Amino acid sequence: MSSTSLRTGSRARSATGRMAAVQEMASLQRLLFEIEREFVRTVTTLIYRVGDIELKYLLCQHCWESAGHARFLRERGRELSGFGKGEAVRDSFRMLFEEAVRAESPEDGLAGFYRVLKPALLEAYREYIALTHHLADWPSRHLVEEFIADEERHGAEMAPYLEKIPRGSWEEHLAEALAALGGFLEQDPKGDLRDDYEWKARATPYQHLAVCNRGDYPVCSSVFSEDPEETPIVRSWLEDPETDARLIRLMVYVWLMMELDAVDYLATVFYDTPDVPFDLHFDLARHLWDESRHSQFGYRQLPRLGVDLGALEHSLDLYAILVQMTPPERYAMMTMEFEAGSFPTKARVMDRIRELNDFEADTLLAFDRNDEQNHVRYGHRWLPEIMKAFGEERPVGNFVEATRARFEELAKIHGGQIPHSLEPAQRLTGSKLRTLSEAT
Ligand SMILES: [Fe+2]
Ligand SMILES: [Fe+2]
Repeated sequence: MSSTSLRTGSRARSATGRMAAVQEMASLQRLLFEIEREFVRTVTTLIYRVGDIELKYLLCQHCWESAGHARFLRERGRELSGFGKGEAVRDSFRMLFEEAVRAESPEDGLAGFYRVLKPALLEAYREYIALTHHLADWPSRHLVEEFIADEERHGAEMAPYLEKIPRGSWEEHLAEALAALGGFLEQDPKGDLRDDYEWKARATPYQHLAVCNRGDYPVCSSVFSEDPEETPIVRSWLEDPETDARLIRLMVYVWLMMELDAVDYLATVFYDTPDVPFDLHFDLARHLWDESRHSQFGYRQLPRLGVDLGALEHSLDLYAILVQMTPPERYAMMTMEFEAGSFPTKARVMDRIRELNDFEADTLLAFDRNDEQNHVRYGHRWLPEIMKAFGEERPVGNFVEATRARFEELAKIHGGQIPHSLEPAQRLTGSKLRTLSEAT
């Protein structure tokens, strides 16, 4: 694509009138907003499909940053006439991103998003800079320059993962559909898609995985139990004032790391709610990124305290049960039950950790608590909106109560189905954590 070809096209003619130029640039911002918003909605489907933990974290971070781009574009766009009302994504973009989601493997999915769609978005931002007036449109230019730096960094951050994926026909398949649009800003000549182009998005509905992917890590149903020979977290030990604070610290880091289950199941809600207000997805993206940071608290600290992460089984029950529920049910369980219900235990844990004079542990837990309070606020704000999107008319309180009961029922069928990958002798258990804690 080239900006010179654009300047000789219809955009150059419209740029001769001042108002028309504003409208033209606002309409480009509208396109960019829709791309970022649809990226957020769909790239999240990769999160539970990839097995690499660091890659999950990175996708959450990119999702959050992209949501930020979308919001800034919307705010700036609304200052200009021509941005348009509403926040809907046009069908042509939706179709393209729906197609990207249909990749057969997580590797293809990653390649489609990061070798085709993200570079095209970066190109679109560069095009915007080339087209706009540096002084007249300085406020937008300033934003777009920052987004370009972000997009370049996203590319660099993803490069080590992409290097492992051979180039394949899936990228060509997506690139063909994008080329037919004339690029994201319609800057290139539009082409006709060949007649036998096979839209997978037309042929197959998308389905979330029944069980999220954790790559090479050992897995289990739950890391919580009352048996110190079974799981790393022993519920009664967490509550017992006699438990050594060093052991509580190890158990709470395991608990935090396992918030990765929240990452995986929250990631399913975006795709399922295509027409909700963008601010809902913005808060979900923040929520998702928060959970990935909480999980990293454990993931980064446990090895420093002597834990072999290869022996720590990942708990998959919550994902496996929640994915059987509707999106409002999933979100209700997360915010109104798990998060709202976690404060008393976490408060006691924080009190105990303070005995250790471990400033970093105190800080991590304090930020976790602060974030969790926000998550419950998000729940109060957005659960009614997600319920509305699914035609759920019961009062929120009744709905949450019924959802709890349904969760219990589904847990009987879909819970406890994931056997331990490791024998008790190999896996990290409460007893082993206790021994380890005595050496820290
Ligand atoms: Fe969390
Ligand atoms: Fe949370």
